Amino acid sequence: MTPHIEAQVGDYAEDILLPGDPMRAEWIAETFLDNVKVVNRVRGATGLTGTYKGRHVSVQATGMGMPSAAIYINELLMEYGVTRLIRVGTCGGLNAEYKVRDIVLAQAASTNSIQNAALFGQYQFASVANFELLRRAAAEAERAGLRTVVGGIVTDDNFYDPLGGAPYEVLQKHGTVAVEMETAALYTIAARYGAKALTIATISDCLITHEQLSADDREASLVEMVTLALETLG
Ligand code: HPA
Repeated sequence: MTPHIEAQVGDYAEDILLPGDPMRAEWIAETFLDNVKVVNRVRGATGLTGTYKGRHVSVQATGMGMPSAAIYINELLMEYGVTRLIRVGTCGGLNAEYKVRDIVLAQAASTNSIQNAALFGQYQFASVANFELLRRAAAEAERAGLRTVVGGIVTDDNFYDPLGGAPYEVLQKHGTVAVEMETAALYTIAARYGAKALTIATISDCLITHEQLSADDREASLVEMVTLALETLG
């Protein structure tokens, strides 16, 4: 047990999917896994373990933002022997070239979070995806004919920017593809523990064109993204 997880050691698989939303964690387990067992309910942050094509896989909801995600990622790595983590989520597109429903494979994550600034002092840590997982995901996406983008994203501490219009322009000029709120923590903490991590995120809204994923496309795109994540681990 950890402060935020009631599971016993051995309850989680070495491979884990990390959605933000607990309802989505349950939906992933119900839709894709067999032999599902609920292993965590603390604070409603559902964790489940099952099998996919005969291999053990877990799903753990992380909540939203780096502080929440960092708690679960730290505890999974410190206590439960997790070795490969794939965040499955949504992101806001920062480039009109990419459309909603495109799948972003996050090669690296810039961030404005104090977590990394406080930790690395004068350095700005480059939080990067695990190359093996990234390569496998890119190959699998190509095989499945999915529209994917491999590129840098930004992990922002604000969903609502009180200053009005987050200063994304300079990031866009440096090729940043999308914005979300968890990946820099995932990549940084995974690096600390020698674990392998990747974020796969569907573009749910474009901050440039204001296009948004329709309800119908949302479910279909989730199926694509989760299948890609599970096949990447396969
Ligand atoms: N900002 C942050 N996270 C997001 C967004 C966004 O616009 N869209 C989906 N996840």
